[in-house]
Amino acid sequence: MPAYRFPVPPASEITPKHAILNRRAFMAGAAGLAVAAAGAPVRAQAGEMLKTVAGPFSTDETPNSLDDISGYCNFYEFGTGKGDPAKYADKLTTRPWTIEVGGMVNNPGAIDIEDLLTQYTLEDRIYRLRCVEAWSMVVPWVGIPLSSVLEKFDVQGSAKYVAFETLVRPEEMRGQSSTFPILPWPYVEGLRLDEAMHPLTILAVGLHGEVLPNQNGAPVRLVVPWKYGFKSIKSIVSIKFTEEEPPATWNLQNPREYGFYSNVNPTVDHPRWSQASERRIGGGLFSSRIETQMFNGYGEQVASLYDGMDLKKYF
Ligand code: MTE
Repeated sequence: MPAYRFPVPPASEITPKHAILNRRAFMAGAAGLAVAAAGAPVRAQAGEMLKTVAGPFSTDETPNSLDDISGYCNFYEFGTGKGDPAKYADKLTTRPWTIEVGGMVNNPGAIDIEDLLTQYTLEDRIYRLRCVEAWSMVVPWVGIPLSSVLEKFDVQGSAKYVAFETLVRPEEMRGQSSTFPILPWPYVEGLRLDEAMHPLTILAVGLHGEVLPNQNGAPVRLVVPWKYGFKSIKSIVSIKFTEEEPPATWNLQNPREYGFYSNVNPTVDHPRWSQASERRIGGGLFSSRIETQMFNGYGEQVASLYDGMDLKKYF
């Protein structure tokens, strides 16, 4: 294993506890009962409650409402409008769902979503999300540290980066079959290995205690809270360890405007707008802007990852 710059918990300390889905009584409608009676396995559905424990690193700021978070989204696979994902993402089937894990690992394999939901401790982590478009939200994610999910694949010592890919399924993702091309698909993202294994980085499977709404990246998405929101790739189907810096969708689209690192940094403006302040969604149209914090307020945890780097160059 490569040398990390912070302690990674040994396997013995992350013994999976069984996180059991605590289905809400009202979700057991007639259809659900009929399926259960027929013997089909009961699957987690958007809106069902998850059994969670309080996780570390939560901000004490008031979270945005579920309506704000699931109604104002960026998920170009469903269109470019902020309301498009809420309108169209219900078409996405999220079962069965596996993430293939490969590249520079000694034990390549796959992660099944049912295992993620049942064999790990699901943590509540209230994080600020700062979008590159200068708006922000506070999101109470339900997630699992990415490092604890990836360690069983036994990363090779020479791996330096982690590459992520979103599902391609134009029949269910209308933005992928749009007549004018929105983005090249799949949406791809990447992190340096130490960023991916940092204890703040999670795979999110829920928010507000419930199974993730499709429009927020169901059934499983990345959350890297000190980076602009576009690094937090949704509906992941592939994770690969690499030696070279992996491609990242927005960086490929426009390398002048979007760097690989994309750390939240109020002192490095986007070429077309300032990054010094942000508008908190849900605060009303005339709410005052708030100052953007370096690393989105997570500097104490992550600044040391970039010691000696010129963050104007590596933006
Ligand atoms: N992942 C995929 N696959 N496709 C996308 O268009 N948009 C990104 C990121 N992940 C995006 C994605 C952007 S720009 C942001 S700000 C966040 O998702 C938004 O997450 P949210 O809609 O859950 O707030």
